[in-house]
Amino acid sequence: MIQIPKGCKDVLPAQSHKWQYVEDIARVTAEGYGFKEVRTPVFEHTELFSRGVGDTTDIVTKEMYTFLDKGGRSITLRPEGTAGVARAFIENGFSGGVLPFKAYYLISAFRYERPQAGRLREFHQFGAELYGAAGPIADAEAISLADAFLKNLGLNKYQLQINSIGCKHCRANYEEALKNYFRPHIENMCPDCRTRFEKNPLRILDCKEQGCKQFTANAPSMLDYLCEECGNHFEQVKALLSGAGIAYTVNPTIVRGLDYYSRTVFEFTSSATGAQGTILGGGRYDGLLEQMDAKPTPAVGFAAGIERLLMVMEAEQATMPEADGIVCYLAGMDTMSRTKAFLLAEALRKEGISCEVDLMERSLKSQFKYADKLGARFVAVIGESELSEGAAQVKDMQSSTSERVKFEELAQYLLRK
Ligand code: HAM
Repeated sequence: MIQIPKGCKDVLPAQSHKWQYVEDIARVTAEGYGFKEVRTPVFEHTELFSRGVGDTTDIVTKEMYTFLDKGGRSITLRPEGTAGVARAFIENGFSGGVLPFKAYYLISAFRYERPQAGRLREFHQFGAELYGAAGPIADAEAISLADAFLKNLGLNKYQLQINSIGCKHCRANYEEALKNYFRPHIENMCPDCRTRFEKNPLRILDCKEQGCKQFTANAPSMLDYLCEECGNHFEQVKALLSGAGIAYTVNPTIVRGLDYYSRTVFEFTSSATGAQGTILGGGRYDGLLEQMDAKPTPAVGFAAGIERLLMVMEAEQATMPEADGIVCYLAGMDTMSRTKAFLLAEALRKEGISCEVDLMERSLKSQFKYADKLGARFVAVIGESELSEGAAQVKDMQSSTSERVKFEELAQYLLRK
């Protein structure tokens, strides 16, 4: 038997309404903030991610699904959404258009990670990106949208942690301080950290190896190295969040696992997902567009993992709608009545009434059982006598009462109910 690839999950029909619910809340919340949906390809040229996400990140060095296509081009399944949206923004000329540009997405993403609860190889994200606004209100708006999304899902036991990782100028001083701090320990750290030490010392703070974490715990804090502008920016973001009643804590160890960030970074965490505590992460990334050879454009955004959100919703027992049942099940007894049921169902569906007919040639009793399982609100029975009378025997499955309803009046009858 061919099995599903490791780290992937099917969303089966009985579960899909939960996904649709989360996606609907994402859309409605994002559109309430003026974001419109953007859809970009599942795969891009590999270089987009190695340059965008950063070639010292775990994502790029270890986790990308990269292959040569039949034309010999190096292609990568997107490990995240931001780089593709940035490419679309540049390629479609939005940097010269009316700003801000505000877009959201619901996507699948792919990372070759060690699968565990809340960590998959194919996973799904709701993300939002805002281009063109450098001021702290844009950071606050992105965080507020993220917060509103989680609240609209009925979640309230999550924490928001924020930090500032400065701009390329003040970060250079900080990186020097980090190097000075790590130099005496680096020989005892993992091989990845030794590479990070040379190429991108900030990444050391993101190392998941226990042996390295003991050294990172007391590392210098970026907040002590922020330049005046970055410091002011961060103060204003904090003041805006407080003003909006969005609770946060400042956590100077948050550096995020992608290289494009500058200034504000943030993570929403929940203990309900076990080890994979981050349900949503994001930040400002003012340098990315320039790095992609486009006009420098400030940017801020975030993405949330849908699988992790569903885990948290389950754990917090957030109210989820039941799957919608159908309005009417049309039961037939023989070829003639089943044919009539089929034709009636065709007419009802045109009126927007959801219905099903018997496809399995079951007995009437089994059809009732099945209709009940489907959550049918009504069952319209058509047998020999109903056919000759031109009317169905309609049972209201909630009240258990039955009525004769003429075939041509069935749609109106069901719509009235
Ligand atoms: P990220 O932190 O890599 O950021 O991912 C965002 C969210 O996606 C995580 O908080 C988590 O919920 C979910 N996630 C990530 N990897 C996995 C996985 N292997 N399995 C399940 N869920 C996962 C980004 O992707 C950035 N593009 C966010 C962003 C947008 N920053 C600015 N704009």
